[in-house]
Amino acid sequence: MNTSVQQNGQIAPGIQAMLQVEGLNAWYGGAHILFDVGLTVGKGEVVALMGRNGAGKSTTLKSIMGLLERSSGKISFMGKDISRWQAYQIARAGLGYVPEDRRVFSDLTVVENLETGRQPARHWPDGTEGFFWTQESLFSLFPNLGNMLDRPGGKMSGGEQQMLSVARTLMGNPFMVLLDEPSEGVAPVIVEQMARMILALKEKGIAILLSEQNLHFAELVSDRAYVLEKGQVRYTGSMRDLLGNEAIKQKYLTV
Ligand SMILES: Nc1ncnc2c1ncn2[C@@H]1O[C@H](COP(=O)(O)OP(=O)(O)OP(=O)(O)O)[C@@H](O)[C@H]1O
Ligand SMILES: [Mg+2]
Repeated sequence: MNTSVQQNGQIAPGIQAMLQVEGLNAWYGGAHILFDVGLTVGKGEVVALMGRNGAGKSTTLKSIMGLLERSSGKISFMGKDISRWQAYQIARAGLGYVPEDRRVFSDLTVVENLETGRQPARHWPDGTEGFFWTQESLFSLFPNLGNMLDRPGGKMSGGEQQMLSVARTLMGNPFMVLLDEPSEGVAPVIVEQMARMILALKEKGIAILLSEQNLHFAELVSDRAYVLEKGQVRYTGSMRDLLGNEAIKQKYLTV
């Protein structure tokens, strides 16, 4: 199996592709929302999926996770064609997902919320050990959570809930995580923590595809970016090139 990709300077040569999306189309009822979206994410890469409200960022992530009733196109994860898989099968294959609305259980404590995400440890296809998160290793990444073990989810701030939602997904020991707008509605001090956390995951070799409107946040963490508008990819390049491209930023990103 050789899944290394090298097209249009996307993934750097020699880096293994974790996720490859080709010709993705998606609908809500009769409304056609995504048009031939294509993207790739390499092992240990952080890739930002950018675009204004309604551009199709969340729809792209949901389609990848098998959560839409109607979509077409080819999605490969770690060399396996997951296009027709159910969401739970995709999660079990090691693709984690943190939805936009966080879905923290408000009556469960931090510890109980974390336990709902637990999945067995996995191995990489070559047999080497994957990730194995314990509550202790998570709390070293999310020190705040470690100080509120018994707090019910409903009594946490938006940023704390966002952290908990990410931590719960990590309890599933994913090889890659889809994060839907991690910085949205989160206080600036938590945004910095969130950025550090994402970089720590990258350092461990976890690939991340994040949907983001906040250019500052994307800049802190991302290697590359795709820019969506009206359900189509309008731009792709390194984060640095995007930051220097005033025309693209004006046209598709700034409000
Ligand atoms: N459940 C739904 N039913 C019908 N249309 C939807 C539904 N969810 C989203 N849409 C439409 O699909 C398009 C893409 O929405 P999507 O949520 O993917 O955008 P987004 O880029 O994530 O935006 P935001 O930054 O606001 O989260 C929008 O036109 C939106 O109105
Ligand atoms: Mg969204």
